[in-house]
Amino acid sequence: MKHSHKTVYQIYPKSFCDSNGDGWGDLQGVIRKLDYLQMLGIEYIWFNAMFVSPQRDNGYDVADYRMIDPRYGTMDDFEQLCQEAKKRNIDIMLDMVFNHTSTEHEWFQKAIHGDETYKNYYIFRKGNADGSAPTNWQSKFGGPAWEYVESLDEYYLHLYDVTQADLNWENPAVRQEMADIVNYWRSKGVHGFRFDVVNLISKGSFEDDPDHFDGRQFYTDGPHVHEYLKELNERSFGLDEASMTVGEMSSTTIENCVRYSGANAHELSSVFTFHHLKVDYKNKQKWSLMNFDFLELKQLLNQWQIGMQEANAWNALFWCNHDQPRAVSRFGDDKKYPKQSAKMLATCLHCMRGTPYVYQGEEIGMTNAYFTDIQQYQDVESINFFNILKSLGKSEQEIYHILQERSRDNARTPMQWNDQPNAGFTDGTPWISLTSNYPIINVNNALADPDSIFYHYQKLIQMRKTYDVIAEGNYVPLFEEHLQVFAYKRTLKNEELYVINNFYGSPCLIQLPEACADMKILISNYSDTKAVDEMTLRPYESFVLYQSK
Ligand code: GLC
Repeated sequence: MKHSHKTVYQIYPKSFCDSNGDGWGDLQGVIRKLDYLQMLGIEYIWFNAMFVSPQRDNGYDVADYRMIDPRYGTMDDFEQLCQEAKKRNIDIMLDMVFNHTSTEHEWFQKAIHGDETYKNYYIFRKGNADGSAPTNWQSKFGGPAWEYVESLDEYYLHLYDVTQADLNWENPAVRQEMADIVNYWRSKGVHGFRFDVVNLISKGSFEDDPDHFDGRQFYTDGPHVHEYLKELNERSFGLDEASMTVGEMSSTTIENCVRYSGANAHELSSVFTFHHLKVDYKNKQKWSLMNFDFLELKQLLNQWQIGMQEANAWNALFWCNHDQPRAVSRFGDDKKYPKQSAKMLATCLHCMRGTPYVYQGEEIGMTNAYFTDIQQYQDVESINFFNILKSLGKSEQEIYHILQERSRDNARTPMQWNDQPNAGFTDGTPWISLTSNYPIINVNNALADPDSIFYHYQKLIQMRKTYDVIAEGNYVPLFEEHLQVFAYKRTLKNEELYVINNFYGSPCLIQLPEACADMKILISNYSDTKAVDEMTLRPYESFVLYQSK
């Protein structure tokens, strides 16, 4: 099957299924659930980073790239997982966190003990004459991006947590290490790789950010990033025709993504981009709330669809991941229209051009966590910003409200399997609290209800395999100015597909194009949708029309 027909399922291993009662998900737990994933119809599982790690940033602080963290299992468990997945035609995608390592990684430990070879694996710089940090850059998790090491009288760069030291990709030895790591996992039969924040690996000049922002203009899509990715491709995954790769691109541009994922670019197969997930950031600030700007959302997704299509480049399609709040709580209505809005969001995304990603629990409509106590939060970014917002004088009540909307922990609560204690996730004490609605929103209930969100996802995933127009068709936006409707058309040879979505809980009127009159409804979130030329869409109503001429 071509990659364009496939759907990826994302597993956050810590929160998926615990087989041994230690409160952490693990690989044996995943093996138990492979039949469930096969039933959903996905072809790939992307696992969030699960290598040896002190877990300051839940595995994105890697201390050994070649070992599974023992809390998830052994290498035997991993190999068993690969075999069991393969029996079900499911491939594995691993998360390569190559912009930085944990400061507990032996390379970094050697570096801070003065070993010059390993110091050159990282980015160490002298401070300014007055002793201040080399630049005014800020860490993405809050606070300065440089940490002083007294014994060396130098600073090291960390764009993320202070325990995540940035690697020096200008050093050819680092680049070779990275290729070797990919090849190590390839030798275990892994074909899929996700590269964490990979467009930040090439730092440009070390200058103060004149706007006193975080300095991203100096290292995002940096000067040698394309060269480094071509080299990595050539030395590792590019040797495998079946490989599927995706790069996580922070604050990038279409122009760069065309180069990262263009069909003949020999860099990556696809890219994750985030512009559409910032449309509810007030003044571009993640920790400042506003209602999402629907027209901007539409405009951005349309721009990316068309820009990537024109250049024959490839997008990953997603609303949710382990860093984002739950889509049904964010863009839908998880109280009044949970089913309709979750299905609408799924239809809108899955019929676009690109590779859809389903984040664990999304397929049953899992919602934000709505935690009410800072003790419930585990995420380093959320805890940092709790303190930062407090020091800026915001009331606790206000901060809780912000975290309930924005914290990454909204996505990280345990998978809701059933209505038993801890939602069937663990027999022990879960590492993070559950979302309290699990007695209602859970896999058991979803499987028992023929009209559930789960079966809607199953159908969409199947449609991508069946209809070439979904996988490969041309994308044309419709109703671009409409204040409530997100619609588009896909075309391929004699096939035509119309996707119509009411993004709001209030009805609205649309005039369907004439071509729709005789088309067949492939999927809808209302059982009695009738596509007529002048039609009133009900709350969150969403459907797909198809014809083959
Ligand atoms: C990516 C990961 C995120 C992590 C960060 C630093 O954005 O998705 O979870 O915290 O990179 O590695």
